[in-house]
Amino acid sequence: MKVTKGIILAGGTGSRLYPLTIAANKQLFPLYNKPVLYYPLSLLMLAGIRDILIISTEKDRSTIQELLGDGERLGIHCSYAIQQAPRGLPDAFIVGETFLQNEPCMLVLGDNFLYGADLSNVLQTAIQQASGAHLFVHHVEDPSAYGIMTVDAHGSIQSIVEKPQNSQSHLGIIGLYIFDGNATVYAKQLHPSQRNELEIVDLIRKYQTNDTISYSQFGRGFTWYDTGNPDDLLEVGNFVRTIETKQGLLVASLEEIALRQHFISVQQFERQVADMPNGVYKKTLIKFFNETNASNTH
Ligand code: TTP
Repeated sequence: MKVTKGIILAGGTGSRLYPLTIAANKQLFPLYNKPVLYYPLSLLMLAGIRDILIISTEKDRSTIQELLGDGERLGIHCSYAIQQAPRGLPDAFIVGETFLQNEPCMLVLGDNFLYGADLSNVLQTAIQQASGAHLFVHHVEDPSAYGIMTVDAHGSIQSIVEKPQNSQSHLGIIGLYIFDGNATVYAKQLHPSQRNELEIVDLIRKYQTNDTISYSQFGRGFTWYDTGNPDDLLEVGNFVRTIETKQGLLVASLEEIALRQHFISVQQFERQVADMPNGVYKKTLIKFFNETNASNTH
């Protein structure tokens, strides 16, 4: 499937992070040294997606827009839409109807963090292989906290259940999905669940009935977090700090990814870095750039 559009769902209530979320959007919180939103956006960019819709509450739209603007500096195009109430994840395809125009898209939840080797290739391969709906799963310790997929001995999907109480399966469905151009039509057919939300598992089931669902499984070498609670937010912040200080490389640096993906030219990259205030982020980007140039000339 060819996917050129991406949606970041960055609204929600943020009740697990109360009282932090009384006055602020959790996607703008610091995840170590960058806003949370940088990390899901980095996934779309690594997947090669440049046309991106960011959905948020009305209250937070202007601050989120202030962060990313029209995306031009990153060689992407960012547009914005408002979700009037947290009606659930499939609502992204209803709010995003005009943006999507019934075309396929990659959806990422605004509080998701995913990191691991060769991620760009994994995501791009998944896009190529996807037809219908494509899910990404990762081993989770506590199945009762996540959407869980059960597969048979051949890896065929048996069931998808939201927060099962006694599941033998530990395959957690992470907040990253690829859906074909039917997502808006299917989302509009859904009815709110008991908690009064449209459920992503119900949308996925629409594809399951049509037998057009596939998945990629991230192995041990990948780290996935939903950063929507205080413990994980702190933990993943420390994780990013460990990687960055140990390796001297940045995690989810949008400027670096834009350059690597050839979304921006070397001159654009250099100009942006020159305009940044002096600090560790700027220093690390300059180091990355000098090292890349040095290795290219050998
Ligand atoms: P959740 O973390 O499931 O929901 P939430 O943000 O309301 O937080 P809490 O459970 O603590 O109350 O949402 C996952 C992501 O999707 C998060 O980044 C917010 C976003 N979201 C929306 O933008 N709109 C919605 O209707 C929902 C349910 C979530």
